Amino acid sequence: MFSYKPKLKHVIEAKQFSDRKLLEEMFDRAEYMERKDKKNKLPQSLKGKRVASFFYEESTRTRFSFETAVLALGGKVVSTDKASQFSSVAKGETLEDTIRILSSYFHAIVMRHNIKGSAKIASTYSEVPIINAGDGEGEHPTQALLDVYTIKKEIGRIDDFSIAMVGDLKYGRTIHSLTYLLESHKNVKIYFVSPKTLSIPEEHIQSMIASKTQFEETENMEEALDKVDVLYMTRVQKERFPNQEEYDKVKDFYILDKDMLRKMKPEAIIMHPLPRIKEIDPKIDTDPRAAYFRQAKNGLYIRMALLDMILG
Ligand code: CP
Repeated sequence: MFSYKPKLKHVIEAKQFSDRKLLEEMFDRAEYMERKDKKNKLPQSLKGKRVASFFYEESTRTRFSFETAVLALGGKVVSTDKASQFSSVAKGETLEDTIRILSSYFHAIVMRHNIKGSAKIASTYSEVPIINAGDGEGEHPTQALLDVYTIKKEIGRIDDFSIAMVGDLKYGRTIHSLTYLLESHKNVKIYFVSPKTLSIPEEHIQSMIASKTQFEETENMEEALDKVDVLYMTRVQKERFPNQEEYDKVKDFYILDKDMLRKMKPEAIIMHPLPRIKEIDPKIDTDPRAAYFRQAKNGLYIRMALLDMILG
């Protein structure tokens, strides 16, 4: 049913999806997967395909949604969630050799790693597609896809909107990928809200200037609340901090509560890549604008769409 054949092998960075035709194809397929799933009639387009789910870092959403997507489309998965302990990485084997071996067993490798740039390195040693499921403080491109898909479903457009990205913009890889992806969208304004020590990295500032993306930086979340169509909260990434003391200084810098919600536009939405710690009060979960659990579910269909596109 889908005739467009994109030139897509490895999925390493969000800018690979700057092509609107590719993005729309992805979203059409995700919608198709959701419809078929509801009828229990998902295509078995991954039949005969084996996928390695190779995670060096913890994950709930990314790992389980990728693995579920493979299984639901008729493929098979071999998985480790502690690659540094439960593979020969623990004996000192390099990433390069590990990937060479896995790529001779599998048709694709979904990999999460703790070091920025590792997915790119892996792709140079792999015969089969590498899908970056998060590389340290680098990127998380499939999260950006599901984020933009969520924005489309929730507010009905992916151009002409404003978004506040709040929290850990320095280490937050979901922020990095979403920012890169939104640069290719028309008339998007980004408010970066963070403590000064966790501000958006300079490489993003330069990239946004080059792409003429509108943005503002502030420490004050309330300044942006009434202006935006999307409020994108993030967790402070404790695991990337040099020590506990530095983390403690910023860990509770932003906490969205019901009072603050009153300042938001009635039709705005609240997103979060999850997991959350304290940055969103659970009392907000029942507000119709709280889209973060719907966002996480969209990840399943986006990952089905992506696997179908690459391997189907
Ligand atoms: N959003 C996200 O990447 O969640 P996990 O770490 O649980 O995969």
